[in-house]
Amino acid sequence: MLHNTQTSYGAIAKWLHWSIALLFLCSYCTVYFRDWFTEKDTPENWLALQLHLSVGITVAVLVVLRILWRMSNRLPDPEPGPRWAHLAAHIGHYSLYVVMILMPLTGYIGTGVNTEFFMLFDIPKFESTALFNSLVVEGLGMSFEEFEKPIDTFHKEIMGEYVLLFLIFGHIGAALYHHLVLKDHTLKKMTTS
Ligand code: HEM
Ligand code: HEM
Repeated sequence: MLHNTQTSYGAIAKWLHWSIALLFLCSYCTVYFRDWFTEKDTPENWLALQLHLSVGITVAVLVVLRILWRMSNRLPDPEPGPRWAHLAAHIGHYSLYVVMILMPLTGYIGTGVNTEFFMLFDIPKFESTALFNSLVVEGLGMSFEEFEKPIDTFHKEIMGEYVLLFLIFGHIGAALYHHLVLKDHTLKKMTTS
């Protein structure tokens, strides 16, 4: 089934969910491989950065498709449970959508180099776009260096190191709790057909 049904997510929702989950894992692996295992100004350091940027931009494209698909599809019925648990699940899922949008966006607008998209073609950095000029230079009266600082802190320190990890581990923990303790169909809805 391509579409979601009353009892399960469909093939497209599953594909989008698991591809994006894998890309999130890749975005962490590439950026921490760069930080921990490469020396500054070496080809490996550059390659790891470029893979991080390319993976992040792929997430941006997939998340747009995912939102459109979700808007045009029903959701499977939730498992029985208390109201607070349904509310927590809703808040958790919406927050994950917010980070799926904010991480690529803040990554892109806060990066001062072009993305060599999987070494295939170049995507110009935000600083060299007309939008940057009209929004940041003329609108806010800021240089790229001034603009980049808070955006970087948000992308790396606030979101990358804390908020995102908290949300993702909370989400995985909830999925495992449903599967192993409550023994309901929550995880199966996203895995089996
Ligand atoms: C799914 C999307 C993304 C996730 C989850 C993500 C996550 C992260 C994390 C965890 C860090 C490192 C934090 C640290 O050093 O402690 C980071 C750094 C960084 N990200 Fe992203 N990012 C994403 C997308 C992007 C995009 C689209 C770009 C740019 C086009 C980008 C540019 C950067 C840069 C330049 C750094 C600093 C690299 C370094 O210090 O080694 N990110 N990101
Ligand atoms: C090992 C990692 C993961 C597991 C085991 C997992 C498991 C699940 C399960 C079982 C559901 C269905 C929940 C329900 O219908 O009540 C779900 C939904 C969802 N997951 Fe994950 N997930 C993982 C990673 C991620 C990541 C990394 C993200 C985003 C950054 C994410 C975002 C979402 C969202 C937004 C939903 C709501 C349904 C939708 O609109 O697609 N998940 N996940």
